Amino acid sequence: MSTPLPTARTHERLVQHLADDVGSTAAAVSWAHAAALTHHCTRHGMVYPSGPPNSPDAVRTVLAELASSHPSLADLLDPRAVPLWTAPLSRSAWPALRDFLDSGDLTADGPHRVDGYRLGDAYQALSADARKSRALCQTPPWIAELLLELSLEPATDEVGPQAVRMIDPACGTGHILLQAFHSARCYRRRGRAPAPYLSTAASIERALQTVHGVDLDRYAVLLARYRLLATSASILKVRIDSLPRFWPVQVACADSLLDRDEPLLERGRYHAVVGNPPYITVADARQRDLIRKAYSRVAAGKYPLGLPFCQLMFELAVPGGHVAQLTSNAFMKREFGRRFIEQFLPAYDLRMVLDTSGVHIPGHGTPTLILLHRVRAPQGNTVFTVRGVRGEPSIPEDPARGKVWSALAEAVRRRLAEDRLREALNTTRDIA
Ligand SMILES: C[S@@+](CC[C@H](N)C(=O)[O-])C[C@H]1O[C@@H](n2cnc3c(N)ncnc32)[C@H](O)[C@@H]1O
Repeated sequence: MSTPLPTARTHERLVQHLADDVGSTAAAVSWAHAAALTHHCTRHGMVYPSGPPNSPDAVRTVLAELASSHPSLADLLDPRAVPLWTAPLSRSAWPALRDFLDSGDLTADGPHRVDGYRLGDAYQALSADARKSRALCQTPPWIAELLLELSLEPATDEVGPQAVRMIDPACGTGHILLQAFHSARCYRRRGRAPAPYLSTAASIERALQTVHGVDLDRYAVLLARYRLLATSASILKVRIDSLPRFWPVQVACADSLLDRDEPLLERGRYHAVVGNPPYITVADARQRDLIRKAYSRVAAGKYPLGLPFCQLMFELAVPGGHVAQLTSNAFMKREFGRRFIEQFLPAYDLRMVLDTSGVHIPGHGTPTLILLHRVRAPQGNTVFTVRGVRGEPSIPEDPARGKVWSALAEAVRRRLAEDRLREALNTTRDIA
């Protein structure tokens, strides 16, 4: 068992302490997270000079080494993404950083090998700006897993593992992307003849080709790229600089709602669109108006970002594509949701509505639901719903095993199994 993560208070205290030394909160967050990141990559042998960082200079040296290890990490040298380059940390501030690294294991393996899962959570805990102004809130792996079972898996069954493409247009530090990477790499088509044998390297390249992400937060994007590379390298038991440089790491920094030039945001391209989009309202009035204009079908009144993101997710999908989202349920209760519910959603094929408002999702204060759609006109006359009766009786020690979530996930998986059985029986009948 690995040691627990440092507490939220420990993260906050560290940032305050370092900010006094480096002059800004942004630079303090940058130093704290870069120390954790360089600790992670040296501990797991991802870059050449090994040994844990033991001074501010060592953090910068390892970070520079990491930046040169793969083209997609070059922006680790950009002070707009990593402000520590323009804000030196004094040696006297180092012990606080070292104590932080010692106070909980940030380098522990996540559910899958060296996936940097805890590094993602640490960024959320360290950066109040990412949490408050961009709504960074990590999607736990047990939720990501279900979202992908409902979207990426059937999409892969349909178009095949070589062709399938998924995107998370608000990917944060990459929790959903990492889960999608593993799911794409280990894909086995159910009930059919085994797929042709793929070498480990080929399965990694195929998974990297499947997975795409975009986020507004420059550093989160770099972290998501690092996590995909570190996971790939660890599976092959090599350093990041030994991975083929042409392997795609398709995670871009852009405003997904407004940037029409970002190639990863090309409309009608993805077989599965999966996300946990931001639920906040935009504070800046000009930005709010621009989004309202671009997403006039859904953005009414004091709309939260979840609504334009829903339209965007539908636009990113191929015709018939699968869209799975964990989103705020506020649109069901407030006036701004009227147009969305009455005019926008009925044009699409709603497959499932899962009430997750009673599920304990760490960090998510807002009541949520999961919506599953196919981007096509409505078909059939049934929608599978799971309605919440009550919340968790107490905060579960392991949220993935909470009573409400377990009951919901079991009901959904039972339904998926029944659908598959029905499909298999129909196929057998057709053959006979
Ligand atoms: C709830 S978090 C997403 C978590 C992520 N899906 C995961 O796998 O853990 C919301 C993310 O939306 C991003 N975001 C907010 N506004 C955005 C925009 N206009 N374009 C792209 N990303 C945006 C934030 O930076 C944040 O990372």
